[in-house]
Amino acid sequence: MTLSPRRTPVLGWNSWNAFRCYGISEKVILANADALIDLGLRDVGYDTVVVDDGWQAATRASDGSLRSCPKRFPSGMKWLGDQLHQRGLKFGLYLAPGRRTCAQVWDGYGRRTDGDAVARPPRLVERLARTGRLRPPKSDRARRRDLGSWGREEQDLAQLVDWGIDYLKYDWCRAEVGTNQACHEDAFALMSQLIDSADRDIVYSISEYGDQAPWEWAPQIAHSWRTTDDIAASAASVFSIARATATHGSATQPGAVGDPDMLQAGNFNNTRLDRTHVMLWAMLAAPMMIGTDLRRLKSDSPLLHALKDPKALEINQDEAVSCARLARHSRSFDVYERGLSTGSVTMWVNTGRRPATVTVPTDARETWSAGRRRSAATLQLQPADYALFLF
Ligand code: GLA
Repeated sequence: MTLSPRRTPVLGWNSWNAFRCYGISEKVILANADALIDLGLRDVGYDTVVVDDGWQAATRASDGSLRSCPKRFPSGMKWLGDQLHQRGLKFGLYLAPGRRTCAQVWDGYGRRTDGDAVARPPRLVERLARTGRLRPPKSDRARRRDLGSWGREEQDLAQLVDWGIDYLKYDWCRAEVGTNQACHEDAFALMSQLIDSADRDIVYSISEYGDQAPWEWAPQIAHSWRTTDDIAASAASVFSIARATATHGSATQPGAVGDPDMLQAGNFNNTRLDRTHVMLWAMLAAPMMIGTDLRRLKSDSPLLHALKDPKALEINQDEAVSCARLARHSRSFDVYERGLSTGSVTMWVNTGRRPATVTVPTDARETWSAGRRRSAATLQLQPADYALFLF
């Protein structure tokens, strides 16, 4: 594989969790990119800005090429990529291997238009889409409304390479509907080969929600593979996705990691959960894509502290790139263990509803909790908080 030689998990920002599709625009993306820099996040490694689904115009051009939504991205994607590069950031975009993108399926994207631009559809259309009851419109038969890359993989990738992408998110989203594809591996391998022969280093992030055991084949063709369905902004979602990711963690290795989905830190209104979520993703050697609106963050916010926590970054970027395993799972605690290039680390997470006490192992070299180093022999953990022991 001659995809980008990147070996440790990618750090950056992605538009989806904060804005879904109708909320993004070049202004929103650049304001978040500027915040990434002003808040010092780029300088600690969060260097990749990904514009997720919802950047496209409602139809393809007459030659079949994708265009950006003229209302929300009037300056075009090449311009946006240049702006990001000038800021010392990397540029990522979203494509899908089927006929439609996930926003076309689940958000009714492109159902209502204003010229070439996509307008937000009526609430009923959005509701039907979210519950999987929106039938493809008849006019979907006209291939110009297919924003997915099926049958146009080469053309779409060439277009994005021309715009200067450094990262591609390729998202399955019912790519079997209206196509003859059943095997996820084949579809993702095809794009991998195209990236391989492109004249640019591109990080390739694939997403098929763990449906066809990607941990068995994706390490050979991609930098990361989603392990589960989409993350929600809740403790239950974070904890269950972490456990599921750890189950198949042995496939994670330098250059190829399981992806438990983008961070929801900042979207819970729970500071403890924010920092535990970040530390858990660090333990899983997961890509850490910030998924909150950074424009409203203050430089002294606890969330920023969690995202820049040197211990979390050190573990996440450890060159051994190994995913933690779930050593214990009970009603009140999940305990994860992972090897590091120097020693090992154990993380206790209070997943229960009450405060709980953890005894510090006598052979622990360092103890951390709530983002600070500790020296006590026992620790009282509030719900959703963690304790970390380094050996
Ligand atoms: C799927 C993916 C999300 C996001 C949306 C975009 O749901 O899992 O991460 O990319 O599609 O429509």
